[in-house]
Amino acid sequence: MILAIESSCDETAVAIIHRDQGAPRLLTSLISSQIDIHRQYGGVVPEVASRNHALRIRPLVEQALADANVTLEQITTFAATNGPGLASSLLVGLSYSKGLAAASNKPFYAINHMEGHLLSPFLDEGQVPPHLALIVSGGHTLLIDVQGFNNYNVVGRTIDDAAGEAFDKVGRMLHLPYPGGPEIEKLAHSGNPDAFDFPRAHIQDAPLNFSFSGLKTAVLYQLQKLSTPKKHLPDLCASFQAAVIDTLVKKSLKAAQQTDHKTITLSGGVACNRTLQNALRTSAQGTGIEIKTTPNHLTTDNAAMIAFAALLSSENRPPDPLNTPIDPNLKVT
Ligand code: KG4
Ligand code: ZN
Repeated sequence: MILAIESSCDETAVAIIHRDQGAPRLLTSLISSQIDIHRQYGGVVPEVASRNHALRIRPLVEQALADANVTLEQITTFAATNGPGLASSLLVGLSYSKGLAAASNKPFYAINHMEGHLLSPFLDEGQVPPHLALIVSGGHTLLIDVQGFNNYNVVGRTIDDAAGEAFDKVGRMLHLPYPGGPEIEKLAHSGNPDAFDFPRAHIQDAPLNFSFSGLKTAVLYQLQKLSTPKKHLPDLCASFQAAVIDTLVKKSLKAAQQTDHKTITLSGGVACNRTLQNALRTSAQGTGIEIKTTPNHLTTDNAAMIAFAALLSSENRPPDPLNTPIDPNLKVT
């Protein structure tokens, strides 16, 4: 019975997972989002995020235990995200989880947030088969050759902005509410993806790497040229989104072929984008490659994915010491 805490950015989250044998059972997964608070600043303010994690963590843990109908004594293992993320946010969840583990003399696992996203498509099955993973979040864009749990090889990454970051920055340019991703997707529905010819970056010598900062600048220049930008909002959103999706889809298929994988998984916050999911499925048709998306409630930040990563960790390696530090720049491999 594992209780996991996620607090790497602006979502305080707690989940409880359990496995006797067979597939894991997720007993509860609660998310207390601070998006409404940070929206007024146009992005996450670390100090505000940290203070709100500290206010929310205890009632959320108590609510999770009540929802799952388990007592604190029945929890056998504690876990929390230790990176990557905002230092002052990570500290709250990690310290709280360590405190619970120390007080009850139970094992503790420090979990990499990106490994949480990476494993999230397989939470229902409870096992991780070989596949090619595309993780697209607010801070990362990664293509990973996954041979199994804890056997990862990064084959592509962004050299500047992450895909979600590009959505959020373009959203801000267009004066859309934070976060820009879901707003851009909504507006893009009524726009023409061919209205503006935005660049698809090709990176010489590292064709599986991504770059989105030139695209962001191209949107800015286009915006400055338009006398009535508001009128063109749907077209700008649709054309920008098409450029991001085109690149993500082409490189994912290429990576799957190069690594000889027959499954591509899609995870991270940007994975809730339906247009991206559909484009990936359409492009994979006839290639023999299956696309496995993450259920919507597991795409943006949550503790269920951290609990699942902790469950697999507890089945595969010894616990972590209680002096395991946060690592805001923690890497997958
Ligand atoms: O995984 P996540 O919740 O947090 C990080 O670990 O970064 O991802 C958040 C990112 C934000 O950049 C947000 O704009 C993006 O996911 N996002 C979307 C959509 N929903 C969330 N991007 C594009 N389309 C969406 N529907
Ligand atoms: Zn995330």
